[in-house]
Amino acid sequence: MIAANTNSTDCLISPAISPALIEGNAKIAAPLKIGILASGSGSNFEVIAQAIQQGQLNAKIPVLIYNNPEAKAVARAEKYGIPSILLNHRDCKSREELDTKIVKTFQEYDVEWVVMAGWMRIVTKVLLDAFPNKVINIHPSLLPSFPGIRAVEQALAAKVKITGCTVHIAHLEVDSGPILMQAAVPVLPDDTPETLHGRIQVQEHKIMLGAIALIADRPPV
Ligand code: GRF
Repeated sequence: MIAANTNSTDCLISPAISPALIEGNAKIAAPLKIGILASGSGSNFEVIAQAIQQGQLNAKIPVLIYNNPEAKAVARAEKYGIPSILLNHRDCKSREELDTKIVKTFQEYDVEWVVMAGWMRIVTKVLLDAFPNKVINIHPSLLPSFPGIRAVEQALAAKVKITGCTVHIAHLEVDSGPILMQAAVPVLPDDTPETLHGRIQVQEHKIMLGAIALIADRPPV
């Protein structure tokens, strides 16, 4: 079980569902099979892979799908012996065509839940209908504030004093859907997009694990 609380004084993690509710179910279900979608660095993907390797999450990652040939997530997958498959959106005529390939691949690998860990593509009904309410997304703001691209820059431009990050179930509208977990991060007077995003990412890694723990510790079906 990943603790939802943190000792850090500069953030507050607020799960929408109390881990205590599922405490009694820990480790009694089969490992949750999570398919990962990543476009870039893949640091969120790696914290999941590491937590699984260390026995902290009752889950496994059968496959990583990436859309950008340069994605650093691929090297991270190799480190953990996780197969990675390139599905390049530039080879597809539509978003639906890309999502159809994604669904087919995840079904081949028997994936149960999908985690968008820095997936920089808008997803369609094709993916969401294949995994109903089983696609999760991480976003670097306190949704519903600042959805869409450049969320950290949006927060700085709005001069908010507190921003943060959100893990949520993905619905069709970009960065919408039921919130699983959030963490607040104060904005400092001299923050740049890079410094603020760096502190947000520290919290992203915690709530990503917390949210997956909520799902992975589900009762057996
Ligand atoms: C994160 O900030 C996430 O919120 C956003 O994309 C970034 C991905 O980071 N959707 P990483 O690739 O996991 O390091």
